[in-house]
Amino acid sequence: MYIVQIASECAPVIKAGGLGDVVYGLSREVEERGHCVEIILPKYNNMRYDHIWGLHDAYRDLWVPWYGGSVHCSVFCGWVHGRLCFFIEPHSEDFFFDRGVYYGCDDDVMRFAFFSKAALEFLLKSNKRPNVIHCHDWQTGLIPVMLYEMYQYHGMDNQRVLYTIHNFKHQGFAGSEVLWATGLNRESYYFQYDQLRDNFNPFSLNFMKGGIVYANHINTVSPHHAWEAMHGDAGFGLGHTLHLKSFKFSGILNGIDYATWNPEEDPHIPYDYGISTFEDKALNKKALQEKLLLRACDKPILAFIGRLDDQKGVQLVHHAMYFALSRGAQFVLLGSATDSVINDWFWHEKRYLNENPDIHLELSFNEELAHLIYAGADMMVVPSKFEPCGLTQLISLRYGTVPIVRGVGGLYSTVFDWDYDNEHSREERTGFVFYDSDNYAVESAMNRAIDLYYNEPKLFQQLAMQGMQYDYSWKQSGEEYIKMYSQIRHQ
Ligand code: GLC
Repeated sequence: MYIVQIASECAPVIKAGGLGDVVYGLSREVEERGHCVEIILPKYNNMRYDHIWGLHDAYRDLWVPWYGGSVHCSVFCGWVHGRLCFFIEPHSEDFFFDRGVYYGCDDDVMRFAFFSKAALEFLLKSNKRPNVIHCHDWQTGLIPVMLYEMYQYHGMDNQRVLYTIHNFKHQGFAGSEVLWATGLNRESYYFQYDQLRDNFNPFSLNFMKGGIVYANHINTVSPHHAWEAMHGDAGFGLGHTLHLKSFKFSGILNGIDYATWNPEEDPHIPYDYGISTFEDKALNKKALQEKLLLRACDKPILAFIGRLDDQKGVQLVHHAMYFALSRGAQFVLLGSATDSVINDWFWHEKRYLNENPDIHLELSFNEELAHLIYAGADMMVVPSKFEPCGLTQLISLRYGTVPIVRGVGGLYSTVFDWDYDNEHSREERTGFVFYDSDNYAVESAMNRAIDLYYNEPKLFQQLAMQGMQYDYSWKQSGEEYIKMYSQIRHQ
């Protein structure tokens, strides 16, 4: 099969979050299984050019229709760690991708509407006819809409679209100008509820809703999140639409890159270990304590790694820090905040706790330290408010670091409670799960984890090793995506 991925991120060249990792990891897996994969991305001026090999112009004069006229673009092509990527560069006074940031501009909807249009125009003009176009998140929600309403009449009538939603919180809201700009026009048609009109704001079009209505199949990144989005409030207002489209909606769990995240061969940790050498994990714990100037002792180390924001349950993270200290445990936090209030708050905490030998807050993004924390910590706290899939718990399991998670989305699909899981036998259980989002809930799960660590160290170790036995690499997820591609291809 010939698959084209269209997205706003691809790690490591463009990465703001898990989306970038998934676009890269999935593409590699699909390619390794013998399929042809190409990736179309915006050419941002701030992307990591040092991760692109052999960048050259691939299509010089791409004229993309935009409002009444057209915008002159160049398309570049290069390899990102073995993946073939095309980068679209518009030459217009809007400077859509020359902003020094990937997201967060007032005209984001216009920037990515343009990108979507340009990506389709590029496929059309360069005679690329993939079997499946796989697009991701709100930024590319208009692709299936334009494909069906316009491009199929220009000769792209054999392309199918899989639309993957990584985060329902960001949907892309725009007014009618986006219809005039892209040439979709027909305002009264698209402003119907069974079209792109937002379910709650009647004056707004919703890109993600467009993606859901028009794609051949839609998925989110874990089975449980698919369920929540339809039946609970995790769809952020799109629940009803998903319900109507449930015949073409499913959940496919993400994988993680087992070449990067492998405690048996990890250049960033001082002592490699696996299930049969689990006792060497303790050496990494010592190294972690030394590196972060924590008191050397046998207290359990709890950790948090991730963005400090509302989605990740920042209030509960804060509570977990102090609760861990009160229970005689150590705590390590690695994360950064884009919100200035949260940023100030955690800097305040960092200064306040500076002299405490049982806690370290590292307020930055530090990949190398992340590896050492996964290897050295005993438990990982993941108290997210919502979590479509989540990568932290998957990495923790791989490193024998027991996850303590809130039972939502992908966390629910991948962590099975040591005491209370009815669907998994004792030997299959992997962590601790709580459900409510208050302090008491996180405390009760942490208590159970810390008690097991102190009172039943052998069982605690068994639990950690049970987690290491699971395979959350891209192997299985890649297979599922390929099945999905071939299913929609024959529709
Ligand atoms: C988003 C979600 C996260 C998921 C990632 C990759 O960042 O918040 O849960 O793991 O996308 O799909």
